[in-house]
Amino acid sequence: MTFSSTPLADAELSLAEHRQHLQADMHACRNSTLRLIQDLTTDEWRRQAHHDFSPIGWHLGHIAFTESLWLLEHLQRSPCAYPQYQKLFAADGLPKAERENLPDLTTILHFMADIRDRALAYLETAPLDRQLRLWRWLLQHESQHAETATYLLTMHRWSPTVAPSTPDVFDSSPLPPWGTTATDGMVFVQGGNLQLGRQTIDALDNEQPPYAVDVHDFWIDQTPVTVAEYAEFMAAGGYHNSQWWHPEGWLWRQRYKVTQPLYWPSGAPEVTSPVCGVSWYEADAYACFVGKRLPTEAEWERAARWHPKAQTMQSLPWGNESLSDRHGNFGGGRGGVTPVGQYPAGRSATGCDDLLGNVWEWTSTWFEGYPGFQAFPYKGYSQTYFDRAHRVLRGGSWATRPWVLRPTFRNWYYPHVQQIFAGFRCVLGT
Ligand code: AVJ
Ligand code: FE
Repeated sequence: MTFSSTPLADAELSLAEHRQHLQADMHACRNSTLRLIQDLTTDEWRRQAHHDFSPIGWHLGHIAFTESLWLLEHLQRSPCAYPQYQKLFAADGLPKAERENLPDLTTILHFMADIRDRALAYLETAPLDRQLRLWRWLLQHESQHAETATYLLTMHRWSPTVAPSTPDVFDSSPLPPWGTTATDGMVFVQGGNLQLGRQTIDALDNEQPPYAVDVHDFWIDQTPVTVAEYAEFMAAGGYHNSQWWHPEGWLWRQRYKVTQPLYWPSGAPEVTSPVCGVSWYEADAYACFVGKRLPTEAEWERAARWHPKAQTMQSLPWGNESLSDRHGNFGGGRGGVTPVGQYPAGRSATGCDDLLGNVWEWTSTWFEGYPGFQAFPYKGYSQTYFDRAHRVLRGGSWATRPWVLRPTFRNWYYPHVQQIFAGFRCVLGT
């Protein structure tokens, strides 16, 4: 399967073709949203899986509410058809803890279908030349909330295994045996001046305008850090040794008594799968432990887009071929993380594997606007989070939909968040 909305295809399409692609994408996106809730229990629908997150049912209602708000009220200028849902499903309506009092699943499925019918009817004659950016934003909005629903479903169904505990006294433990400069398993990436971001119809406000930065030469891990590699950090008492941790990270680790990633595998785990469910603090501590550091988002994007032979930046890690299932583990179909390095077609020109899909990758960069940033479609989408309290993640996870999977896409979370499908890779270099 290939996906129609690749950045490359955009510029060459007529308006009629854009409309067809949009319709097809909206159907495909909604079908995977509905697949998600196929065998959901009432408890999973209604209950918060974690106090920092809304219930799954809220995300579904919010997807339809947002579609109605922007496409029907804002673009079509029709009155709100469901004023009773305003307070409950608006992004700024109720505190998360008060979102458990939800209509049942059937009621919300009707709400979603009704809004979608109205939107598709409007799309037949809507002036898409002036509206396409908002329609494409909405597709990405649903994609992101559906991914969050996947985190929540995983949390509801996860039975945690506790890794063997390690003693609490490690303050004089030596440096890891592999030293601090080994570049085994790493690839070299030439530095230079590059443009972050892009300016296509799909590009979100925080990807624009393209932003020129310099990066130095660096080495980067060929793959995300695996379960086997991370287990060495745990076995060496990494969670009990403050020397590897950012001061805030150490406070967090002590306060919440964290001793392992949230989605630490049980039974006979695939130890060559990427570690998943780590906070930025854990990623940062591991990087310190192996004598490396997390990449900046510019380094990550350089690794994902630089073609060393052609000396150019590409749209996709492997070149111009449209994104497809051959290129990585994304879209939710594989149901979880997969061993690293299984997608040779997805290898970047710089030699990195699993850049798109499998796990989101933490970077050391605070989430901020690129110079010249302009909010779209509202301030609270990105700008509210330019607070030097959120770190950028790149690359997408196994649950990320193709409409938000690209080397320029920027995700952001607080550094303590363990609940998302995030891992990381490390770099060496100045
Ligand atoms: C970018 C994934 C952090 O889900 O909170 C959805 C995306 N913004 N609706 C989120 C978003 C508004 C956002 N993340
Ligand atoms: Fe939202």
